[in-house]
Amino acid sequence: MSDTRLVRVWRGDADDGELVDFRVEVNEGEVMLDVLHRIQATQAPDLAVRWNCKAGKCGSCSAEINGRPRLLCMTRMSVFTEYDELVVTPLRTFPVIRDLVTDVSFNYAKAREIPSFTPPADLAPGEYRMAQVDVERSQEFRKCIECFLCQDVCHVVRDHEENKEAFAGPRFLMRVAELEMHPLDVADRVPAAQDEHGLGRCNITKCCTDVCPEGIKITDNALIPMKERVADRRYDPLVWLGRTISRR
Ligand code: F3S
Repeated sequence: MSDTRLVRVWRGDADDGELVDFRVEVNEGEVMLDVLHRIQATQAPDLAVRWNCKAGKCGSCSAEINGRPRLLCMTRMSVFTEYDELVVTPLRTFPVIRDLVTDVSFNYAKAREIPSFTPPADLAPGEYRMAQVDVERSQEFRKCIECFLCQDVCHVVRDHEENKEAFAGPRFLMRVAELEMHPLDVADRVPAAQDEHGLGRCNITKCCTDVCPEGIKITDNALIPMKERVADRRYDPLVWLGRTISRR
């Protein structure tokens, strides 16, 4: 069964742009990426849209549909009613390169700021041992496909370019949490989480969790536990007393 829908697609570059209307055929079972490819094939061959696997695993086709961050390849057209307007726009938090393609290098810069996994110096590769419960905890975080939808939706940077310097965003705060919870990582990640990666700016709105296509509980399982570790370290009077005495 096929239908014709009006799809409004943002077209432009870093300087200027506008929504352009396309009337396009939509068939049963199709996703928004199929529809954009049909627009490319029949009406706008120069429409820029980034994609790769079309299976929700590469994290390339991130964009916004009706203002909500989504993977284009995992958004079935059947989730929209005939009354819904269909407006496809680039990720708002990152600079536009062209049409639906944005420059996400902010995220790679933030990734580089996190010191890598640091095992004990006297432990050789092959001697690493972990309890299954610890494996399972980090397994959830490692499902991340780095689509950066969470980075896009977080209000701390979405409307505040000035916060980007001081805030790593949910994806990379989750990476810090993953390493901090790793039983073989000996680096102390707690002070940097707060002071360098901006954990304190997260006010637990959970929008990052809402848009995660992998269903990772970013806020509950990564960000809140990290906040608890910061609070324990900095504001628990017994911990403070113990640290003060041990420094003497
Ligand atoms: Fe942002 Fe997620 Fe915190 S959306 S404010 S990092 S809970």
